[in-house]
Amino acid sequence: MKSILQLISEELAPAFTACGYDPELAKASNSNRPDLCEYQCNGSMAAAKKYHKAPIMIAQDVVAQAANSPLFEKIEAVNPGFINITLKNDFVSWYLNQLAATGTLGASRYGEGKTVVLDYGGANVAKPLHVGHLRAAIIGESLKRLYRYTGHTVYGDVHMGDWGLQMGLIIEETRSRHPELCYFDPDYTGEYPAEAPFTISDLEEIYPAASKRSKEDEEFARAAHDATVALQQGNPGYRALFRHILAVSVKDLKKNYGNLDVSFDVWKGESDAQAFIPGMIQTLKDQGILHESQGAMVVDVDEPTDTKEVPPCIIQKSDGASLYATTDLATLVQREQDYHPDEVLYVVDKRQELHFTQVFRTARKAGIVRPETKLTFLGFGTMNGKDGKPFKTREGGVMRLEHLIADIDEAVFSRIMENRTVDEEQAREIAKTVGLAALKYGDLSNQATKNYVFDVDRFISFEGNTGPYILYTIVRIKSILRKYLETAEALPKEVAPAVDASEKVLQLLLSKAGETITDSCENIAPHRLCQYIYEVSDAFNSFYHEHIILGETDAARKDGWIALLELTRDILETCIDLLGFSAPDQM
Ligand code: ARG
Repeated sequence: MKSILQLISEELAPAFTACGYDPELAKASNSNRPDLCEYQCNGSMAAAKKYHKAPIMIAQDVVAQAANSPLFEKIEAVNPGFINITLKNDFVSWYLNQLAATGTLGASRYGEGKTVVLDYGGANVAKPLHVGHLRAAIIGESLKRLYRYTGHTVYGDVHMGDWGLQMGLIIEETRSRHPELCYFDPDYTGEYPAEAPFTISDLEEIYPAASKRSKEDEEFARAAHDATVALQQGNPGYRALFRHILAVSVKDLKKNYGNLDVSFDVWKGESDAQAFIPGMIQTLKDQGILHESQGAMVVDVDEPTDTKEVPPCIIQKSDGASLYATTDLATLVQREQDYHPDEVLYVVDKRQELHFTQVFRTARKAGIVRPETKLTFLGFGTMNGKDGKPFKTREGGVMRLEHLIADIDEAVFSRIMENRTVDEEQAREIAKTVGLAALKYGDLSNQATKNYVFDVDRFISFEGNTGPYILYTIVRIKSILRKYLETAEALPKEVAPAVDASEKVLQLLLSKAGETITDSCENIAPHRLCQYIYEVSDAFNSFYHEHIILGETDAARKDGWIALLELTRDILETCIDLLGFSAPDQM
């Protein structure tokens, strides 16, 4: 569906033509003086240069031509040559009814036919999820939903870190505790047990213990390294243990991501890329771009326009071991084979930017991806504590995700209990929904690339630019609609022309729903969607405070308002769903 801006431009274009000016100049924009008008067109300024005429005269010519348009309530030329426009109320309400009928709130399905692989997990197996993985999950989940809404086919891949030294550490630690287990018997020929020899709580204790020990005990460290190599070379007992570690961890990860309302379509990890490494390296060789440097095998990826040094991409170390870049390149081979994607989008900590520059350039040079495949790195900033340093627990340790969530839920719970409108059990349920909104909105409302301060008190506030404020607005609307339905069969659907300024402001904002969704997706910028729903919520609450909706005696007017409320609710709920959270029925 065309945006209102497009419709205004199309309305002005013939007026420009009729006056002898280029219709391309008839571009409308949002008003930067909302006190004077709703939209404006600055085309006369550019026309002035082209036609050597005073801009105000051009603006006056156009205004005289367009004065009788059914779209414009008011169109005027103001110094030095702007065209200020106020729309007719019945045009705006007509537009909203069209928008409601699209089924996508007017958003474009521009992604139809396009396939995207979204890499936004990165959790490391056997290590508990920590806040560092939180941003990837929150931002990635929102992008997945936005991409789908705009028609893309999306494969969300968790891409676990499951192939590193942590595996060898766990294997060695398990051996020293239970040397009798069959996994360590080189002569064992039977089936390995289906049941893992450890639980997730065991693993959570085993890994840090082993990691600590490897720093103090050189022999142990060497053994863990050797076990990692043996695992990678296919030692059957270690392989069986690895499958146990993976199964136990994945089950736990699914639970944790589930609590965040984050899900993945593909549960692959670095280990799945290993099979593609030999072929990938052969490709690099065939292309003649792999060469030796200080014992390692590398690909040069620097470009003459680089302002910062981009070192060669190391593919194999001197001992033959592969690296992070090797795995990511091999994964691209697998993704190309399995999905043939138009875009691969990585949501990863921005400190990994250089790594992705090296990987993308190598992939292009080697033809691992097609020239038209987009490779996008969305590097996010750090979540800091109030002290401005990366977020830690009170004791200074790494905060575990589940503890962080529990803390927020508890804070929201106390807030809800202060009002005492619901019983304790309900309050617990509601606190979960509101807590998740607080957490996700607190993150997503910041531009992803920037660092932000994690401030529970601010995030859970019911006022200001917060998740709970948005939910509160939705809950308020739902409650009015419920009351309306107590005496009516169904909700009226036709939005009516605005009766005053606060209603017009709300209607104009709602008319921007589709273009805002499209724009947030195209620019991989969920924060723009947050800003939008914040403005809609503010506009709705102003409208609400100025009108007695259910008590309105003019039935047609009341029905128009109820339809407007229903559309506002639909837009807010769709947008929060795209951000990855939902609203309760009461709070
Ligand atoms: N496991 C990595 C980490 O914790 C993140 C992985 C990101 N994705 C990728 N394809 N490299 O830092």
